[in-house]
Amino acid sequence: MSLRSRSLLRRSCLSVPGSSERFITKAHDIGADMTFLDLEDSVAPSEKVAARATVARAIAAGGWDDRVLCVRVNAWDTVLTFRDIVEVVTGAGERLDEIMLPKVQNAAQVVATDLLLTQIEAEVGLEPGHIGLEVQIETTTGLINVEEICAASPRVEAVVFGPADFAASMEMPVLTGGVEVPEYPGDHFHYVFSKILMAARAAGIQVIDGPYLKIADLDGLRRYAQRSAMLGYDGKWAIHPTQVEVLNDVYRPSQELFDKACDLLDAYEAATGGAGRGAVMFGDEMIDEASRKMAVKFRARGEKAHM
Ligand code: GLV
Ligand code: MG
Repeated sequence: MSLRSRSLLRRSCLSVPGSSERFITKAHDIGADMTFLDLEDSVAPSEKVAARATVARAIAAGGWDDRVLCVRVNAWDTVLTFRDIVEVVTGAGERLDEIMLPKVQNAAQVVATDLLLTQIEAEVGLEPGHIGLEVQIETTTGLINVEEICAASPRVEAVVFGPADFAASMEMPVLTGGVEVPEYPGDHFHYVFSKILMAARAAGIQVIDGPYLKIADLDGLRRYAQRSAMLGYDGKWAIHPTQVEVLNDVYRPSQELFDKACDLLDAYEAATGGAGRGAVMFGDEMIDEASRKMAVKFRARGEKAHM
């Protein structure tokens, strides 16, 4: 397995319509951690077939630096999925890191994609397991099955919440997905965020929040992104270039917490000699083995962000 992108940052995941050569060209210069060229909902039905070749050509042409590079194909409830995957993976070459599957309903859809990728990789001479998967949870059935979906294949690198389709699937009385609903006392997606996060961490994969549709409202984006960032999400979609910088900032571990995690680990090691002596004092806080585990995770996250 190569899975180059498994542990790369995904603070900002830029969505680019795969039918637009102009937007694809512009995306090269936008500093998103991850970029996905879309064949699904941002592409008009009449342009979907032609867009396959457009995205494959754009990836094969190079110039994508080190970011995670992905193509979102159409869902398995259309007739487009298998040709999307065959044409894109065959034409794009080894720089393609991942395929994103939207509206995943159950583990079988992930297994089917895995099998298809295994055959294509063998045919075109890519290393087995080269292509990773991102799975979108955006239907009620998908959410019910999220644990088995996340664990369905070693190719799955990240799970992504899709608030717009999810709100439609739930028949929520909202017309803009992925924004605050001030009338609701609390966060109307709190349960959903937590359930997806738990499934992701149990499977050892990254977890990404979806789009914020009010693209002119960067303060609203920052406020809303902080909800999933506080829970521990790794990043969020950007559907406009101006959103990228906000997201890179919100999902970057704070220097203060990173430094504190390093100090805590040093203090715990010094006090226990690495032998784990139970609870010790760190400043005015009592710390123990659970504190060490939190600090280890946080330090690893900070190191990934080059702190
Ligand atoms: C994204 O695909 C969404 O439906 O929110
Ligand atoms: Mg969607």
